[in-house]
Amino acid sequence: MKIAVIGTGYVGLVTGTCLAETGNDVICVDVNEAKVLKMQNGEIPIYEPGLDILFHRNIAQGRLVFTTDLAVAIKDAQIIFMALPTPPGGDGAADLSYILGAAKDISKLVTEYKVIINKSTVPVGTADKVQAVFTENTSVEIDVVSNPEFLREGVAVDDFMKPDRVVIGTRSERAKKLLLELYGPYVRQGNPILFMDERSSELTKYAANSFLATKITFMNEVANLCEIVGADVDAVRKGIGSDDRIGKRFLFPGIGYGGSCFPKDVQALAKAADEHNYDFQILRAVMNVNEKQKVVLVDKLLKYYKNDLKGKHFALWGLAFKPETDDIREAPALYIINELLKHGATVAAFDPEGVNNVKAVVGDKIQYSSNQYEALEGADALLIATEWSVFRNPDFDRMEQTLTNKVIFDGRNLYDLEKMIDLGYYYNSIGRKL
Ligand code: UGA
Repeated sequence: MKIAVIGTGYVGLVTGTCLAETGNDVICVDVNEAKVLKMQNGEIPIYEPGLDILFHRNIAQGRLVFTTDLAVAIKDAQIIFMALPTPPGGDGAADLSYILGAAKDISKLVTEYKVIINKSTVPVGTADKVQAVFTENTSVEIDVVSNPEFLREGVAVDDFMKPDRVVIGTRSERAKKLLLELYGPYVRQGNPILFMDERSSELTKYAANSFLATKITFMNEVANLCEIVGADVDAVRKGIGSDDRIGKRFLFPGIGYGGSCFPKDVQALAKAADEHNYDFQILRAVMNVNEKQKVVLVDKLLKYYKNDLKGKHFALWGLAFKPETDDIREAPALYIINELLKHGATVAAFDPEGVNNVKAVVGDKIQYSSNQYEALEGADALLIATEWSVFRNPDFDRMEQTLTNKVIFDGRNLYDLEKMIDLGYYYNSIGRKL
């Protein structure tokens, strides 16, 4: 099939590349000329495991091309994906200007039937708004479909190629037929393509992310309570996760959820509810708890150092909001750095992929180390903010020689408690015994 993808951000690029991989002809279009030029020269603009192989292969085979020219991109496309940003506006509601702007541009160019897909996370009613833009500007028949994506950064290729489910919001039989054909190769194992109306599909995306954020937040609160009552959150997690209705996944407590999706989507759903005079109370609680959880390590430090962090020097392992990404948006590490600097402490940080992005925001207010052990030099304590694999089984002998004190505050529960006692560490983690 012939496909256009508008927007080559994270979602657009993964979508375009993975659609090319099953034999479709994909043209990706972006307004950023420098970025398009780079991609035309075979340079991949994001870090995502496994994506580079598919990216280069499909470019080489001529199935994946890049342009800044919207007219060229959509001319022969049967399906047009819109993968554009929907940042929170000043009031927390999603800003639809990119999507509605693109819809307007497309509507002035189309000459034959096309399916327009909203791939971005958008508020309920957006498909109707996009459809209205087309109705206003063209008499050509168009179907606007909601098709949210559920891929996770770090495992995006796998999530796209083998999705748990594909959600498609449309009431048009013609669009359904085309999309069944398009997504058929990705659901061969029998995972469902769920057809529903546009509004239900739009809400599904927000509800999924908000539910997951709530699940994590619930566990973070259980962990906080575990510390107070002397219980062990690992045991509680296993105890409740064995119940299929709860499930084992996404129950890991830590230093709060971050990233470009959960914080934005929980806020947007709460705001959308507000606009319909519905007070979505649980989401408010989730947002409040998560704000506090992001700096729970600093609270622990303040307690340990009796409210005085002035002149203390900390090693920080992990900057990205989660492993296998260089994404630092809403990363707890940034909040931790901010608090530590406010309290007069200094920080030496290491992250396998996120350093450049943090440098762009934090600059030289902290030190950046070229490896995890260098960060420990002269540190009063080690703080762990991201569960990268390289932090899971470090060389403890080397650490001992470098760290001034054997003190670790671990926001991701990486180490076995007994092992840390044997090694003689003061080891403070989340929801577990000291
Ligand atoms: C999330 C969803 O998982 C995807 O399904 C969705 O498509 C995506 O948002 C999106 O809307 O685009 P992502 O933001 O890549 O994906 O990251 P997750 O792996 O879901 O992690 C989100 C946050 O939750 C991270 O800060 C992570 O550290 C935290 N988390 C996750 C926990 O604290 N505990 C857990 O058990 C799991």
